[in-house]
Amino acid sequence: MARAATVHVCSACGHVSAKWHGQCPACEEWNTLTEERSPAGTRTGARGASRSARVASPAARPARLRDVRADRAPRLPTGIGELDRLLGGGLVPGSLVLLGGSPGIGKSTLTTMALGLLEGAGRATLYVSGEESAAQIRLRAERLHVGAAPGALDVPVLAETDLDTVLATLEAERPEVCVIDSVQTLAAGDLSGAPGTVGQVREVAARIMEVAKTRGIAVLLVGHVTKDGTLAGPRVLEHLVDCVLQFEGERERTYRTLRALKNRFGSTNDVGVFEMRDGGLVEVLDASARFVSEATRAPGSVVLAAMEGSRPLLVEVQALVSPSELVPPRRVCTGIDRNRLALVLAVLARHAGVAVGTADVFVNVVGGVRVDEPGADLAVALAVASAARGVVLGGESSRAPLAAFGEIGLTGELRSVAHHDRRAEEAAKFGLGALVSPDTAPTLREALRGALRGGVRAAA
Ligand code: TYD
Ligand code: MG
Repeated sequence: MARAATVHVCSACGHVSAKWHGQCPACEEWNTLTEERSPAGTRTGARGASRSARVASPAARPARLRDVRADRAPRLPTGIGELDRLLGGGLVPGSLVLLGGSPGIGKSTLTTMALGLLEGAGRATLYVSGEESAAQIRLRAERLHVGAAPGALDVPVLAETDLDTVLATLEAERPEVCVIDSVQTLAAGDLSGAPGTVGQVREVAARIMEVAKTRGIAVLLVGHVTKDGTLAGPRVLEHLVDCVLQFEGERERTYRTLRALKNRFGSTNDVGVFEMRDGGLVEVLDASARFVSEATRAPGSVVLAAMEGSRPLLVEVQALVSPSELVPPRRVCTGIDRNRLALVLAVLARHAGVAVGTADVFVNVVGGVRVDEPGADLAVALAVASAARGVVLGGESSRAPLAAFGEIGLTGELRSVAHHDRRAEEAAKFGLGALVSPDTAPTLREALRGALRGGVRAAA
């Protein structure tokens, strides 16, 4: 195929260059130049072209919003309740959903399940995979067919990495729902970059979107996430797609959370919890009950009344404090932010008399759940203090674990956090009578005194 005229654009400063450079000649940033199709064949960039266009084009007539037709888009429910809820009722025809997550988390499983269920409901689907052979996809579908998604074996698949072939197939097959697994494995033959480079990813997504919009195809784009947690081929796609879903959790563990980071057709305030089983992903509707019943009654354990989007969720936070030879000692955490842990440890030492400066500290949110909210501070502090002192929180004799939530301020005060009633209600609902929060103690020191002695006020 003839190569299209392309230019190299700096993603930092927008400088347009005919040749690729490792360092941008204009702003001197490294590795920021990406190859893009040259706008309308002009080699010198869009600015000059748009200026002359402005003179030539007739003015357009803006319409009043009340006169604009806005049909409520009909939804295609996937039949996976948690996914449909996150999407705001199902997939929207002509829309692009980006599903991100690290390798092995279950993206292919979730999308195969969705297509299987849709196919079973009589919808036309297509599964495009650039990652696996049709035979590999079949093996997965066999597990799902007998498990969570009967219909999985009826899904038409295309194992292909060439973008033009995929687009032509979409035109020919006209599915209602299509999965592209993954956006980083397809490549446009007329761009020189390797699959997965920013230029390619952007081109692939943009051209698939064109077909999706004109043909009314709902597209689920799978995208890999880089080590630092951003969607690879990254930010460049977030503004383009209608919805960004992020699959989180650790592949070795069974629980997975699906989070809406952006949603043009629903709220972003929601999270779905899944469990990976032999027959596919199963929705966990009683996540709080599970985590509370699995919680241990040992020093270093506390239940955090967290908010996952608009839903309260009870999760166990565990800490281990052990003497260390290392300088500096280890600070290892999963499920919470490292910097947040550093802050909590500093406030514990400075304002609450719990110094762990010469010990290794491990903090873990059980079940592979991430709780990136300041409301987790108090639970982390209580878990660390309880581990350091070797004392069971809430007293050895109390049967239910202690629950906690609240932000810790730099002066050692407890600060209230959003949805305080719903957190307290959730704790009470699952039988956690003892609750420590900014309402029961004004400072971390007092919260600790109560919790370590066992004299904790009962929850409302
Ligand atoms: P996969 O969906 O391939 O992950 P991704 O596409 O995000 O890379 O599958 C992830 C893991 O899930 C894989 O190690 C196998 C496991 N798995 C199950 O436990 N049960 C199942 O029914 C399936 C299909 C996969
Ligand atoms: Mg996969």
